[in-house]
Amino acid sequence: MSSLLQFLALQTLTSPRSAKPPPARKQFDPELKRFQERFQTKEAQSKPYGGIPPGVLTFLGISALAISTYCGYLYASYQRQVSRGQALDVPTDVSDRYNTTAPTFDADVELSEKAMGLGAKRADLVRMARGNVLEVSCGTGRNLEYYNLGERRGVDSEGHAAVVGCRSLTFVDLSPQMVAITKEKFEALWPEFKRVAFRSQDAGSVSVELKGFGWSPGSKEGEYYDTVVQTMGLCSMPDPVGTLRHLGEITEPKRGRILLLEHGRSHYDWLNRILDNLAPTHADRHGCWWNRDIGAIVRESGLEVVEEKRWHLGTTWRYVLKPKHN
Ligand SMILES: C[S@@+](CC[C@H](N)C(=O)[O-])C[C@H]1O[C@@H](n2cnc3c(N)ncnc32)[C@H](O)[C@@H]1O
Repeated sequence: MSSLLQFLALQTLTSPRSAKPPPARKQFDPELKRFQERFQTKEAQSKPYGGIPPGVLTFLGISALAISTYCGYLYASYQRQVSRGQALDVPTDVSDRYNTTAPTFDADVELSEKAMGLGAKRADLVRMARGNVLEVSCGTGRNLEYYNLGERRGVDSEGHAAVVGCRSLTFVDLSPQMVAITKEKFEALWPEFKRVAFRSQDAGSVSVELKGFGWSPGSKEGEYYDTVVQTMGLCSMPDPVGTLRHLGEITEPKRGRILLLEHGRSHYDWLNRILDNLAPTHADRHGCWWNRDIGAIVRESGLEVVEEKRWHLGTTWRYVLKPKHN
């Protein structure tokens, strides 16, 4: 090994490169200097750095520094949340969190919903609701303004003549605090509409109750809801598959529809890894498991898929479902 080093040192010292004579000093040429001064543009002389003004350069430098500092901060807090989550023992059922977050729920989600354009997606879904409508996991009533109240002749989503609009509305949520907010909002928005009910109940065992809306007990039609709506609810319940199966059983078998707008796993593995890593902390604080595979839950429920759409890198899921015919 040492002889190899000696050989390399000798080679370096005696190589033609090291024996090269020093470069000749350039002669000062006054003609060349005059030529350069005359023909170099004024602009190039006054704007070094490729002509970018110094003010812009300073701004770009400060912005780059600020962005890199912010990214560093985000990464550090992400790592903190991941380690916090690993240390937590979060139960599957975190639905009780909504009892405490109900008063601030709207303010908490408003900005992100606006940024994601969720208002339009809610409107497109809820406009399809017709007949006797049940909304489960209604939360603070963020869909209220999109319902067409009162039945009338019109055209359905496929362009066929049909009776459209809602005959009655029933709002259900496990959290009494959430239901109370929906009720207050509804009464302010639609004081004249009386075919409405509010119940604090588990969506997985909710029964059909249409007596107050003009149905006589035992009537065939009164055994089902025509439309069941749920938005952002499968993430919060301990048994999403069982709940969907139950909702299928109380939906009118022929024309009845279950309309879902949910959030969950993405198309992308990198994003799913982030969702998985942060899921325990998020569930513990907000009562929602945001890494659920909504497609798998729907398939397992056995309901028939009429329509499926996804947005936001695949994390927002919309389904139109109907009970499966046996
Ligand atoms: C993320 S919030 C969504 C609220 C609302 N649907 C929306 O789109 O803004 C989830 C809601 O589901 C309710 N929830 C959780 N488990 C439930 C269950 N088993 N039955 C009925 N509601 C439930 C919670 O109380 C909460 O109001």
